Amino acid sequence: MSQPTIESILQEDRLFPPSSEFSSQAHIKSLDEYKKLSEAAQADPEGFWSKLAETELHWFEKWDQVLDWSNPPFAKWFVNGKINLSYNCIDRHLETRSDKPAIIWEGEPGDARIITYKQLHTEVCKFANVLKSQGVKTGDRVGIYMPMIPEAAIAMLACARIGAAHSVVFGGFSAEALRDRLVDADAKVVVTADGGWRKDKIVPLKPAVDAALDAPNVPVTTVITVKRTAQDITMAEGRDHWWHDLMDAASDDCPAPALDSEQMLFVLYTSGSTGKPKGVVHTTGGYNLYAHMTCKWIFDLKEDDVYWCGADIGWITGHTYVVYGALSNGATTVMYEGAPRPSNPGAFWDVIEKYKVTIFYTAPTAIRAFIKMGDEHPNARDLSSLRMLGTVGEPINPEAWMWYHKVIGKEKCPIVDTWWQTETGGVMITPLPGATPTKPGSATLPFPGIQADIVDLEGNSVGPNDGGFLAVRHPWPGMMRTVYNNPERFRKTYWEHIPPKDGKYIYFAGDGARRDADGYFWVMGRVDDVINTAGHRLGTMEIESALVSHPAVAEAAVVGKPDDLKGEEVVAFITLEGDQAQDDALIKELKAHVVSEIGAIARPGEIRFADALPKTRSGKIMRRLLRSLAAGQEIAGDTSTLEDRSVLEKLRGEGS
Ligand code: WT7
Repeated sequence: MSQPTIESILQEDRLFPPSSEFSSQAHIKSLDEYKKLSEAAQADPEGFWSKLAETELHWFEKWDQVLDWSNPPFAKWFVNGKINLSYNCIDRHLETRSDKPAIIWEGEPGDARIITYKQLHTEVCKFANVLKSQGVKTGDRVGIYMPMIPEAAIAMLACARIGAAHSVVFGGFSAEALRDRLVDADAKVVVTADGGWRKDKIVPLKPAVDAALDAPNVPVTTVITVKRTAQDITMAEGRDHWWHDLMDAASDDCPAPALDSEQMLFVLYTSGSTGKPKGVVHTTGGYNLYAHMTCKWIFDLKEDDVYWCGADIGWITGHTYVVYGALSNGATTVMYEGAPRPSNPGAFWDVIEKYKVTIFYTAPTAIRAFIKMGDEHPNARDLSSLRMLGTVGEPINPEAWMWYHKVIGKEKCPIVDTWWQTETGGVMITPLPGATPTKPGSATLPFPGIQADIVDLEGNSVGPNDGGFLAVRHPWPGMMRTVYNNPERFRKTYWEHIPPKDGKYIYFAGDGARRDADGYFWVMGRVDDVINTAGHRLGTMEIESALVSHPAVAEAAVVGKPDDLKGEEVVAFITLEGDQAQDDALIKELKAHVVSEIGAIARPGEIRFADALPKTRSGKIMRRLLRSLAAGQEIAGDTSTLEDRSVLEKLRGEGS
């Protein structure tokens, strides 16, 4: 990897301070207060985190040491502390919140359930006993391959209760991808459903589990299936059980045991740019604290909020911000089974109206899908309950940010653009909604206690507006602890790109970024998504933003294509709004548009129209595939995370 000189050419000088109305009621009320917190945390990180751990969480036994960093990069937080995440998410709320909705669930076909804290306690205790009856013990791994139904959260919390690590595999992954993960995690038990609803169709999950288990090396001996979609499935004698049968027979008495703070909580697989997916390991105490504090301060959670994070529990966002962070705070969390879909373009806004959602958190890719479906859908609903909004997952192009601000937030809701990763456990760079003036497209400032920086490959901080690598200089409680069964990969991927100096380890996030004169972070995307053209490095996001700001364009993905003269040439893949003519005149116009928005250095050499872009199931555009297509090469490497294979076939047809 070479030294980055990423030129960020995005000019964005609009500033949106929070209203005094919002600030005055917020947990963190001003930029000044934020700065004081951050300075205190910087001066004494361990004091900062331990004070919060004491006041915000329940511990059965206090720790001897806040942070053990004697064997970097392997951290231990709250050493010898005893804690139970499920207790912190449920039991401790029973006294004051037993009849408060913990989970409001809405299924894609419109069925709904509300589960109070008391009911959640009963269900989680019962399922914890079910797991025990199937031989699951503290330290074992349990696979979870489920749709977005309350039983998914119940299964996660039940694992956490008994100290078994869950490994949630997104329900859109194939049987092969599921098998790889179950084998790597050495899971004994899988919890699944017959199927789930996605885009008006049943996704058959149990058949995929059957196929995944149909191989000699799979360690799973027990499958527990929730009846959700009620189509015919086969049940293997001895191995397969219905959830409702086991639950009917289970006792609801399961006191939460005191678990070690470093007890493995979950393994969640995430793809890197090379190799097999990595099993990212998170542990209990530090993760609990980090999920709790970030959820509380970033979403300004209050007792009466109805909080909706739209992520699937198959991703880290679903773990931290649908389930653990929300429930640890005693909040009401909304779980929705559906995805944005043209067949029901108002579905999301109906959920907000129906439950008077106050906080809504989603991804830029969803926002762009909403934009494409039309303003008339949100405009026809009462969204006045909303008081703040969030985004996560990729850089948000300022156009989409402005739409979110105007059409959904009615110009009164702060937007938090939250930068983080599976590896970080929780949000790392973000506005605090009552404190931080926002700039569209910037994740703004580090969360208090996070020593984020932009560095070169020697670990030196770069100057204002210089491009570099996003890095973290000090451990934080929510950090991943290792790659499951592969500590060397953990060390190499995250801690040795920037060689440690004088025993100081720097976390390498794999993103390119710059910091402006106000100290605001502008994340430009993965470092492997950076295009080098004629000696200039360009963030793909800036060119994409420029393209998307043209009224004809719905979505754009930009990659580099090898070029003899320039090193790399910009190639843009584009989907259009409505039924625009895909002709040369438009291509010319779009190239000129990029030139006028950014400059001649960013002019795409080639623009290709597509019906859809290849995406992972979490909605990330798979630029690696587009790069191969642009270069006229065969697609190499893993394509198992692709959401819709036909997209690739079509593009390939057009590209050849
Ligand atoms: C990568 C991590 C963490 C939740 C979902 C994704 C990109 C994430 C932002 C943001 C710019 C972002 C980064 C990061 N990313 N949020 N607000 N602005 N980029 O988790 O699958 O682990 O992906 O997503 O490139 O490295 P993930």
